[in-house]
Amino acid sequence: MLNLSRDNIIGKSHREILGKIKSDDLNSMLKKLEEEKDFKFTEGEIHAYIDSKPVNLRVYITVLKNSKGNFIGILVVFDDLTEIINAQRAIAWQEVAKRIAHEIKNPLTPIQLSTERLLKKWDEKADDFGEVLKRSTKTIVNEVNSLRNLVNEFSRFGKMPRINLQTTNIKLIIEEILNLYNDVKETTIITSLQDTPEIEADQEQLKRAIINLIDNAIQAKTERIWLNTSYDPFLEVARIEVADEGIGIKEEEKDKLFLPYFSTKKDGTGLGLAIVSTIISKHRGYIRVKNNEPKGTRFIIELPVRQK
Ligand SMILES: Nc1ncnc2c1ncn2[C@@H]1O[C@H](COP(=O)(O)OP(=O)(O)OP(=O)(O)O)[C@@H](O)[C@H]1O
Ligand SMILES: [Mg+2]
Repeated sequence: MLNLSRDNIIGKSHREILGKIKSDDLNSMLKKLEEEKDFKFTEGEIHAYIDSKPVNLRVYITVLKNSKGNFIGILVVFDDLTEIINAQRAIAWQEVAKRIAHEIKNPLTPIQLSTERLLKKWDEKADDFGEVLKRSTKTIVNEVNSLRNLVNEFSRFGKMPRINLQTTNIKLIIEEILNLYNDVKETTIITSLQDTPEIEADQEQLKRAIINLIDNAIQAKTERIWLNTSYDPFLEVARIEVADEGIGIKEEEKDKLFLPYFSTKKDGTGLGLAIVSTIISKHRGYIRVKNNEPKGTRFIIELPVRQK
């Protein structure tokens, strides 16, 4: 690592040799060592430059004494962690990139559904074209804005958008979602919407979570989806349920559903439910899965209602 030969080590002071390693971290370690009288051993990770190359090192420093307890020197051992840390960083970036890709994919569903709807209404020369145009463009603009926020937040902070809580009426969110799926022929959404007290929610993110559940249900080949809301006054939670009569989930897979990258689909990333569960826990809520009777799957979200 230091490219040292025997000849230019022996007889030199540790300061001279370690001088090749340019590191504030190491300097302060050595300074502490010189100040401390009874020093025996220390270790730490340092960032350094060797011949202007950045490296990450783990350093172990031990004081050597002879049998009489007299100081005879110090032993310094370096472990080069550069490769390991670079590899870890590359993996972390891949994770972030995959998550970003999934988040970008999410708003594409509403944009596509709205555009298809517009085209259909236009072809039909439908009477309500004006109204559909207004609603669909609003959805598209909203989704494009949320994409922009995502990208801004990511480039500024290198992380997913923070949660932005607002007093929210769940019914309104559900209605916006229903509008999106109005013209999806393969699946009918049946609703039973009980009034619930308002909740504190990031409306975009909560909507996205529910859309993820609906998309999963559609991909599970269901003809009908039940979307229910209700209020549990005992637990003081609002409940949102998405149930389907699709292929269902095997018992042994239920534990893994919410983990990132668990997918049984050919083109699935397995990030959908992991993101849903993060969104729900950011709302101090809870999500679980059950079998739907007689067939299919039921996801249940519980969110604390707003305290008056
Ligand atoms: N409604 C459902 N019915 C049956 N299986 C489901 C349902 N929802 C989720 N799953 C199972 O859970 C797995 C994980 O879902 P998740 O949304 O996290 O990823 P995915 O849908 O496979 O991929 P992506 O969301 O990236 O398209 C799915 O692959 C599927 O096996
Ligand atoms: Mg999914």
